[in-house]
Amino acid sequence: MSMRRYALVTGATSGIGLATAKLLAENNFNLVICGRRKERLALLEKEIVSKNSECKVSSLCFDVSKREEVEQAISSLSAEFQSIELLINNAGNAHGLASIENASLEDFEKMIDTNLKGIIYISQEIIPKMIAMGRGQIINVGSIAGKEVYPMGSVYCASKHGADALTKGMRMDLNKFGIKVSSINPGLVKTEFSLVRFKGDQERADSVYKGYTPLVAEDVAETILFMATRPLHVNIADVIIFPTAQASSTIVKKDL
Ligand SMILES: NC(=O)c1ccc[n+]([C@@H]2O[C@H](COP(=O)([O-])OP(=O)(O)OC[C@H]3O[C@@H](n4cnc5c(N)ncnc54)[C@H](OP(=O)(O)O)[C@@H]3O)[C@@H](O)[C@H]2O)c1
Repeated sequence: MSMRRYALVTGATSGIGLATAKLLAENNFNLVICGRRKERLALLEKEIVSKNSECKVSSLCFDVSKREEVEQAISSLSAEFQSIELLINNAGNAHGLASIENASLEDFEKMIDTNLKGIIYISQEIIPKMIAMGRGQIINVGSIAGKEVYPMGSVYCASKHGADALTKGMRMDLNKFGIKVSSINPGLVKTEFSLVRFKGDQERADSVYKGYTPLVAEDVAETILFMATRPLHVNIADVIIFPTAQASSTIVKKDL
């Protein structure tokens, strides 16, 4: 059997990150799983190890938007877990859906700090290790909101447009080291995303996914696995993935 490679997934406690961590564990990766909800990390670690006895898992509980926490968490990893070849920058959320003049600044700051600065903090910790190993791949989970703008979503869209620019810039800067950098940009995926955006309002969150079949986290995870398992000379640089019912961030065919 071939050697397991090490992957780090941020936002592994829910949705796309959770599905990706499980799928990578089934496909020859050891894992560093990250998130702020400690009990969920413990449950996931237990589940992965019970299903894949040869898979090594390390859990890191920290906030990606806090620089010192990121530095401490990554440096606490043992030497073997530091040899991360695949970094999935997935942690992120939308907070609120509101017009620019009356939305909460606190929400705006959370989105910029998590969706944009979070990628920078984690990547800065991991990239030197990839350079030293002479190989690596970084996949940023962006969004269709990083390609198009929609009303009431100005700052979420700005954070994801920023993440899109980061992906492109990182790909240019890391080209000389042979490190692959890419992004996957989903449309509507049924996860806890809308529950977080609407601050726990389950009915409003559910209404986002009514009248059509949205993507599920596993759809995105399968595509990430495909991107992560291409031959060394192939980099799937940029992917947009929609449910069939969706044509753009504002056009969704609903049968309500
Ligand atoms: N669902 C969609 O329709 C959709 C569409 C396009 C793009 N995306 C993107 O996909 C990514 C994953 O979202 P999802 O749909 O899977 O939503 P989700 O189910 O709400 O998962 C979000 C994950 O991010 C983690 N996270 C959020 N803020 C964090 C912070 N400050 N520090 C550390 N971890 C943090 C959460 O973990 P903890 O709460 O445990 O920290 C959780 O594991 C996000 O970047 C999102 O923008 C989602």
